[in-house]
Amino acid sequence: MAPKSFLLACLLAFTLQFFFSPPVSSSASLLSTSKESSSMKDLIKLGEGCVSHPEDVSVVVRKGALYTATNDGWVKYFILHNETLVNWKHIDSQSLLGLTTTKEGDVVICDSKKGLFKVTEEGVKVLDPDVRFANDVIDASDGTLYFTVSSTKYTPADFYKDMAEGNPYGQLLKYDPKSNQTTVLQEGFYFANGVALSKDEDFVVVCESWKFRCRRYWLKGDRNGTLDTFAENLPGGPDNINLAPDGSFWIALIKVYMLHIVSKGLIVHMSLSGFQTTLLLGNGHSSSEELVRQNK
Ligand SMILES: *[C@@H]1O[C@H](CO)[C@@H](O)[C@H](O)[C@H]1NC(C)=O
Ligand SMILES: *[C@@H]1O[C@H](CO)[C@@H](O)[C@H](O)[C@H]1NC(C)=O
Ligand SMILES: *[C@@H]1O[C@H](CO)[C@@H](O)[C@H](O)[C@H]1NC(C)=O
Repeated sequence: MAPKSFLLACLLAFTLQFFFSPPVSSSASLLSTSKESSSMKDLIKLGEGCVSHPEDVSVVVRKGALYTATNDGWVKYFILHNETLVNWKHIDSQSLLGLTTTKEGDVVICDSKKGLFKVTEEGVKVLDPDVRFANDVIDASDGTLYFTVSSTKYTPADFYKDMAEGNPYGQLLKYDPKSNQTTVLQEGFYFANGVALSKDEDFVVVCESWKFRCRRYWLKGDRNGTLDTFAENLPGGPDNINLAPDGSFWIALIKVYMLHIVSKGLIVHMSLSGFQTTLLLGNGHSSSEELVRQNK
């Protein structure tokens, strides 16, 4: 499988829901023990076969649609009530990753090679043309955007070198729409992947794929500007993350296969995801341990 596929295809390989109140720090407490629904059959498949390598999905309740972007450059939405997939806007890109939908109904999207873009009914606007390997983005109620750069050293095609080197080249950044300026809030993430805002917008959660953990960067209060660990020892590498209506989070975990690739005398342990061309929407009740077993 091409390395790029790893980044593009990790859409909810399986999901795990956990709650941040009370805060959890061990994987044991993250695993649901619910018996009522414990298989991949409980996941609803949407748009099967119609979307090519979706990276992220963003829910717009107002329009009753799910948005996604695919590696052929299409920003698409899936109308839930009649299960219609609409090709909305096309971007000249094969490197689209995470996206978010704004209050106005626009889409902000990370292009891992070309920067951060805003897609509106009128067309595509550049927000930040300089940023590279932007992976995921979330918008705050005041229009501020928080986004991740997975690696400041490696390109998406070389993501595995980032993993092999094992140094933290990931960043959390902020884009201010009033000044059209990007600032780095925090550096030092081991592959910064998905990003989500808490319900009260008092912190952002950043998924740190190579460390199997999520970190929390505070935006308000006494801890404003500081970083701590939100969840660790996850049963897979966290990829995308989304806030659930009840304030908990959905996290897509990268399915883990340990491959030993010997190159230049270096043994690299790689985790690769299953290849999905389907949008999966989890119900959050499945035991991740069982899903891991079923996916092997
Ligand atoms: C699905 O519903 C939308 C409105 O929500 C409508 O515009 C569209 O034509 C419908 N598509 C089909 C195939 O019925
Ligand atoms: C923001 O600034 C960049 C230059 O860094 C420019 O290319 C872009 O067009 C600006 N976008 C907006 C929406 O002003
Ligand atoms: C948090 O700190 C930043 C600077 O690090 C500051 O700009 C911001 O206003 C602070 N926010 C609150 C709510 O205190």
